[in-house]
Amino acid sequence: MKPLILTLAPLRGFTNALYRNLYSTHFQGIDTAISPFINTLSAKQINRSHIKDILPENNRGMPVIPQIIGNDPAGFIQLATKFHDLGFDTVNWNLGCPAPMVAKKRRGSGMLPYPGLIKAFLDEVIPRIPIRLSIKTRLGSEKKEEIFNLLPIFNEYPIEELIIHPRTGVQMYGGEVDLDTFEQCLGLLKMPVAYNGDILDCASFIRLRERFKAISRWLIGRGVLSNPFLPGILRSGEENIRQPVERFKKFHDELLQAYGSELSGQSHLLDKMKSYWLYFFRSFEHGEALFKKIKKADTLKKYEEITGKFLGEDARWRPGLRH
Ligand SMILES: Cc1cc2nc3c(=O)[nH]c(=O)nc-3n(C[C@H](O)[C@H](O)[C@H](O)COP(=O)(O)O)c2cc1C
Repeated sequence: MKPLILTLAPLRGFTNALYRNLYSTHFQGIDTAISPFINTLSAKQINRSHIKDILPENNRGMPVIPQIIGNDPAGFIQLATKFHDLGFDTVNWNLGCPAPMVAKKRRGSGMLPYPGLIKAFLDEVIPRIPIRLSIKTRLGSEKKEEIFNLLPIFNEYPIEELIIHPRTGVQMYGGEVDLDTFEQCLGLLKMPVAYNGDILDCASFIRLRERFKAISRWLIGRGVLSNPFLPGILRSGEENIRQPVERFKKFHDELLQAYGSELSGQSHLLDKMKSYWLYFFRSFEHGEALFKKIKKADTLKKYEEITGKFLGEDARWRPGLRH
């Protein structure tokens, strides 16, 4: 089998530099991360706060590939050149975001039904960027067949890697991943391909690795958020973790502290932590009931009481994840 490269998938609002740095001090197994998307802007507007998530001084834990979303070649070239100047050698282009506000502007997955636009974009961008380009895509915006109009275009360019999340945009993050169409794509592509979607446990990962022997790079998003031990488990094949609750609690408490220093106002901090529990609860027995209580907490104090008691006394780790 090919060497195993595990990449933390970008999840906007979750896998930012703060999370990535903290993750790498508590857990193992991730080789690299793709940053959540950064919008193209005109050159004048690119300042440090716009790109702070990928600045090398803010990323101590794991190597990061910055991701850009946009359909404007000039803006893309400027931002990608900026990333090169900061020392990055690869930039990723987001052709997967399904959010209606993004897609209706023909950005992210909203660009997939327009092969002509994608070709014109690549024609303009590729000769003008001093950095390698990888692409993260879905199978289509509305129909999975859209991808078959795009593969011959992608094959014409020196694309470092094509990451495929085999869903359509309208599927958002639900429904099944389409492994048969992914397999068809693999047979038609000339560049290295990476797989992304619903990697949740060892058994399903082994099945994927056995089916797609040519793949080395695997991106994992929600599976890592829910179970941060997952990359280590996939590497070792050992699903029994020593003291998972205690280790998770330390991570959780530091996450709370780190966001406390970054966010202004307790309600922002409370909302942020609640949003992580949409994923965290899945790793615990009776996690659903806990999540309901957490959602109802209307002050930070109540949040800390609920999670402190749960993680300190009641929590039992639940192996095997569901989305
Ligand atoms: C809340 C959320 C935010 C996301 N943000 C991004 C993003 O910024 N860029 C991107 O390419 N994909 C983004 N994705 C998609 C994920 O990177 C990934 O493709 C998707 O979750 C499927 O992989 P998974 O099943 O391992 O999570 C996001 C997904 C979610 C649920």
